[in-house]
Amino acid sequence: MDEISPDNMQEWTDPRRNPDERARAATKAMSHAQKMAWMSGPMAIPVNGKEKPEGAIGSAGYFPAMPELGLPAQQQSDASLGIGNLGDVRPGDTATALPSSLMLGASFDPELARETGQMVGREGHAKGFNVVLGGGANLLRDPRGGRIFEYVSEDPLLTGHIAGNSIAGIQSEHVVSTIKHYAINPEETGRVMISSDIGESALRESDLLAFEMAIEIGKPGAVMPGYNLVNGTWASENAFLLTQVLRNEWGYRGWAMSDWGATHSTVKAIMSGLDVQSGANIDPEPFFGAPLEKAIEGGAVPSGRLDESITRQLRSLFAVGAIDYPAKPGGKIDYEAHRKIAQRAAEGGIVLLRNEQAILPLPATLRHILVVGAHADTGVLSGGGSSSVTPTGSLKLDGAEFAGVSLEKVYQPSSPVRAIKQIVPEATVIYDDGKDHDAVTARAREAEIVIVFAELWRSEGQDVQGLSLPDDQEALIVRLASANPKVIVVLETGGPVLMPWREKVPAILNAFYPGSGGGEAIAAILFGKVNPSGRQPYTTPLSEDDLPRPDQIDPKTVVSNPGQPVTQPVVHRDYTVEGADVGYRWFTRVGRKVAYPFGFGLSYTQFSYGSLSLASDHDSVFVDVTNTGAVSGAEVVQIYAFREGDSSFQPRLVGFSKIRLAPGETARVSAGLEPRLLAQVVGDNWVRHAGRYRLEARSDALTPITGLSVDLPHWTLPLRHSTPVD
Ligand code: BGC
Repeated sequence: MDEISPDNMQEWTDPRRNPDERARAATKAMSHAQKMAWMSGPMAIPVNGKEKPEGAIGSAGYFPAMPELGLPAQQQSDASLGIGNLGDVRPGDTATALPSSLMLGASFDPELARETGQMVGREGHAKGFNVVLGGGANLLRDPRGGRIFEYVSEDPLLTGHIAGNSIAGIQSEHVVSTIKHYAINPEETGRVMISSDIGESALRESDLLAFEMAIEIGKPGAVMPGYNLVNGTWASENAFLLTQVLRNEWGYRGWAMSDWGATHSTVKAIMSGLDVQSGANIDPEPFFGAPLEKAIEGGAVPSGRLDESITRQLRSLFAVGAIDYPAKPGGKIDYEAHRKIAQRAAEGGIVLLRNEQAILPLPATLRHILVVGAHADTGVLSGGGSSSVTPTGSLKLDGAEFAGVSLEKVYQPSSPVRAIKQIVPEATVIYDDGKDHDAVTARAREAEIVIVFAELWRSEGQDVQGLSLPDDQEALIVRLASANPKVIVVLETGGPVLMPWREKVPAILNAFYPGSGGGEAIAAILFGKVNPSGRQPYTTPLSEDDLPRPDQIDPKTVVSNPGQPVTQPVVHRDYTVEGADVGYRWFTRVGRKVAYPFGFGLSYTQFSYGSLSLASDHDSVFVDVTNTGAVSGAEVVQIYAFREGDSSFQPRLVGFSKIRLAPGETARVSAGLEPRLLAQVVGDNWVRHAGRYRLEARSDALTPITGLSVDLPHWTLPLRHSTPVD
């Protein structure tokens, strides 16, 4: 691109002007053909014998540059958990893998989310990407969901804050972030033909609220509607989602890009609010290409609508500085510093689920350690699909078929065994793959301690069938536990699994999919170099029968991937069952016991709470928290609220704050209260009914520590309330 000097400075190249003016001026300067080139684009990789588009780096999407106008190409990369490489489309290109988003959710740490977002933005920018497709904000409505590792939690407040901060971090590096998959897209099996059916108020109080908060905090430049339908209409042409809610109520000013191969029409889609057809080569028709030209010529689509789509894209690119600070491939990346950020994120998210007789942390005096399973000698498991990050040195095994492409099961190169050996160099650390149960049980008898890595691989395009650990791992854990009383289980399951064996072992760590520093983070927690402070971002049920929809769709009966003809009728999934009461709110409502509740997590220290007070403006609460144990640690103060005497109002998280305390230290912790979570949607308003509310600090969603009852006045907020993004 030509350098901008005062001589060739145009209205839109002048950084002193605001993004709206600049976007409008640049749109005006573009030719019709240039505009059309930004309305639809293929997957930017070599496909079906065709080369990638000229100028494309090779990634999910590409829209050409306009050098004469000083406007760069849009180079779009997947980046939910780090910069993706779609298999190995840019041969040898490495990247830092973040822990899965669920693990970031488990950290309950918005600052960490911002920092990891910045890391992704920095890597993206240095690789030449100015738009990343990262910002998963769907609520976890089904623990079997194939893609839940890309989402944050089952709770709207936690999801909104973590996703929003991660997006803000990405965009602070002059890269547009894309919040996805808008909205209520919790299942993968049959994803291109499922209609998520739910009442409007319940939807607004749950999944939409998570998106709304994430958009308020992060101001993402782009939104990606999901593959699914919502209440019978494709998300990508759903006027309720894309126009009424997103634009009219939330004042959103970025652009809506379809998911890859998820556009279904021309006039309906664009007039409902879709701006760009992405992955157009996967769609059966070039909807936003020649058919759109025709629709504009014929008057079915006003030409002003075309300008609007272009202005929205440009506005977002200007707003994050993607045009003033253009991304170029070949930038410097400090991978070691980034690996450390990933490690810190994993350390902040690992959840200690069980620790009988304080068996953890392990003493450095151990001399005979047996490590079993999940390729822990090589690396840590990650989730499959478009979000996959494959740092150099990853172990790649056969995974699954996805849209005709084979998906690899990737173990990222951060070996727990190596990290353990570094902490206890004098110990003998033996690794056993655990396949021969007799042999490994014999070894377990000899060991001082046994650390078993249990795994469950999840992937885009397919849900896991059932929540049990596969491949006889349950039997293996039980056998090892009968051979040695000191068996520690580390879960690399990317989400909830059934744990009928949990009381047979003294300690359990939930390590999700922990990313590029995962092995080191697990070892640091096992040996007490780091005190665990993660909290469950979801409920672990006792049985699948306890879920709102115990049944699963049979993958053989549906189409799950774009680009394959759907001949069957749409499958309707009934989310009115739990409605807005997702996750722990559902379990509370139906009074079912759970294995581990949302918000649960142990520490190597203890915390005591003073009494809870409400700030005079009713906007926040505060409480004194003391570390009463012997080691430093972080506590997640979780504030739940319910309306007294109203059985339809399930206790829900309304505020949280993470605090680090040295032994003996006390701090006054304040947590903001999200007013919309104390309210309901009634007509066109959020309404908090006057009445007596109970606010409680809880150690998890079910266990109160201290609380107060307070009379709150009637309060309303129009749905159409948001101030436009800046
Ligand atoms: C996924 C999106 C992703 C896109 C581009 C789709 O299959 O659903 O999340 O961004 O591919 O790779």
